Amino acid sequence: MVKNKNNTAIWGSRIKKDTSTLFQKVGNSIDIDKKLFQEDILGSIAHVEMLFRQKIISFKIKNKIIFGLNKIEKEILKNKFDYNRKYEDIHMNIEKRLFQIIGEEAGYVHTARSRNDQVITDFKMWTTSATKEINRNLDNIIKTILKISEKNIETIMPGFTHLKNAQAVSFAHYLMSYVEMFNRDKKRFTYNLESLSESPLGVAALTGTSFNIDRNFTSKKLGFKRPTNNSIDTVADRDFVLDFLYSASVCSMHISRIAEELIIWNSDGFNLITLSDKVVTGSSIMPQKKNPDLLEYLRGKTGIVYGNLFSMLTILKGLPISYFKDLQDDKEILFKSNEILNNSIAILNEVLKNLKPNKQQMLDLANSGYITATDLADYLVKNHSMPFRKAYQTTTSIVNYAEKKKKKLNELNIDELKKIEPKLTIEVLKIFNVKNSVNSKKSYGGTSFDNIKKMIMKYKKV
Ligand code: ARG
Repeated sequence: MVKNKNNTAIWGSRIKKDTSTLFQKVGNSIDIDKKLFQEDILGSIAHVEMLFRQKIISFKIKNKIIFGLNKIEKEILKNKFDYNRKYEDIHMNIEKRLFQIIGEEAGYVHTARSRNDQVITDFKMWTTSATKEINRNLDNIIKTILKISEKNIETIMPGFTHLKNAQAVSFAHYLMSYVEMFNRDKKRFTYNLESLSESPLGVAALTGTSFNIDRNFTSKKLGFKRPTNNSIDTVADRDFVLDFLYSASVCSMHISRIAEELIIWNSDGFNLITLSDKVVTGSSIMPQKKNPDLLEYLRGKTGIVYGNLFSMLTILKGLPISYFKDLQDDKEILFKSNEILNNSIAILNEVLKNLKPNKQQMLDLANSGYITATDLADYLVKNHSMPFRKAYQTTTSIVNYAEKKKKKLNELNIDELKKIEPKLTIEVLKIFNVKNSVNSKKSYGGTSFDNIKKMIMKYKKV
């Protein structure tokens, strides 16, 4: 063991045989957790600075270790670092290299800490940055939606319930509903930052340590708000991973619903939007095809993001408190969901930026399906002092009549209407104008043009 120090596992003098090559291969996590190198180095620097302040290590050793760690960081950034699967993970790889660079004094770096607190410190820091980056990406997509909305306040389309024409809406109002969803996603991710702000560093393997460490110092130094409270819970806790995965799942679900909606609108049956050639693909046999593959990608990937949440929940279920190897997969799962989500946000942004509403088709569809029937019922209540239920019945008779005559509501003349409801006057005809219908919904949150403008302004200021 002593002869070949740099090539053995750290526990080489206790465990006499080399780990089986199969276990080394499947049990290592270096290919995954090397993403954490920067956090790991920052964490180690803060740790040794604290050890020095607390008089646990000398000034000279602290500086040597920091020198070595900075050198390692440069090597990694320049792709000159030799990762070795044998040392399992990023923490051991860095520690091993530190020995090579500064010699035996590297052994002080792991005083009063364990990989159990080290890994979650790194991971929480990484997840904090990733959370903030997702929120920045969500801001970008919100900006895109606001821009398209501004241009489409008076673009009229049918609003659907049960995918049947329900009432007319502004296309901008539809788009602004996506802003609400993404804004809630941002709040959800922001809320997660609170539990991410507790520093695990210093709880060591599971009990804390007998060294006189200062966890408040490392906590502040690394950008956390405070240290965690219970050492056993700290090494066991992966709630922050679940929070991230859940938030990513909800955000993906929003993206998937939007994608599905755009797929429907882009279908030949609806033809309400045209997607840019940049975001469609062709068919190998049908020369005419332009398929919305990227939107389907978004819908499909949501399944993987959900799966990741369930993988993590399942890993944690039945796992006793404190650290177990089972937990190692937390990073692969979270990294994957993070990557998918960021790609999905970017793809949706690209799709939306290049999307063209087929305004005439939207208007034509809005003029079919008796979409102003509710407006007529409301009109009867307001102008002819009718209870809503009576107005609803009268309107049903008018819709049934129009259907029998194969006419749209706006194609009926006043005499035909008067036959069903004698109180009606010529003034009622304006009710069948879909634009008036949209603009009449002035209640807070409704689809009137003014409401939409105000909402756009509000979100532009945020
Ligand atoms: N690579 C390990 C992980 O990600 C680090 C923690 C190892 N701790 C241990 N007791 N084996 O979970």
